[in-house]
Amino acid sequence: MKTITVLVGSLRQNSMNRALARALEVAGKDRFRFVYADLAPLPMYNDDLWADVPDAVTALKQQLAETDGVLFVTPEYNRSIPPVLSNAIAWASKPYGENSWAGLPAAVAGTSPGPVGAAGAQIHLKSMLPVLDMLVFGQPELYVQGSADMFDDTLGTTREDTRVFFEDWAAKFDAFLDRVARQDTRIAAE
Ligand code: FNR
Repeated sequence: MKTITVLVGSLRQNSMNRALARALEVAGKDRFRFVYADLAPLPMYNDDLWADVPDAVTALKQQLAETDGVLFVTPEYNRSIPPVLSNAIAWASKPYGENSWAGLPAAVAGTSPGPVGAAGAQIHLKSMLPVLDMLVFGQPELYVQGSADMFDDTLGTTREDTRVFFEDWAAKFDAFLDRVARQDTRIAAE
């Protein structure tokens, strides 16, 4: 069982991206243990706050220290990632020399009601991850045109073709984690 830290870029109670994360959790239930990072209590990034580190920052960095991989599930805001996700990424990348993302394998997924399925946001995010020294999972991509009726908290997804696709994604992400786990590139904290 691999531990996956999941960051959902929406705080909305009925978030479709949270529902997508849950559907991926169901699809990978025999492979992964999903641990959802709590992004709501993170203050807006401010260098000055390192003087008295917020508990939510410590918790996020601790989760990342103990994980086998990361899953970002992002909505698309104005063709990019939402502030809640950008903020979390910034916090865990600091302070200098203590980048918590370094060496971690990451998958990216996202959904929006529009036909591009959050592709714009995902492409932006995927271009950030190597800068953070992360290893990005490439295929299959998960550009999901979402609707509320395609997700079910217990079943994951109500659509058979989508369920098969998500299970294939889980198997391939699992195999990717096996491959890259042998090549830990994590840079030691200075
Ligand atoms: C959006 N939305 C959106 N959708 C999209 O496909 N492309 C976009 O560029 C944007 N831009 C955008 C900006 C802002 C500020 C908001 C609030 C929304 C719509 C968005 O995909 C939709 O609200 C999703 O349902 C958000 O995801 P959650 O909250 O359901 O997970």
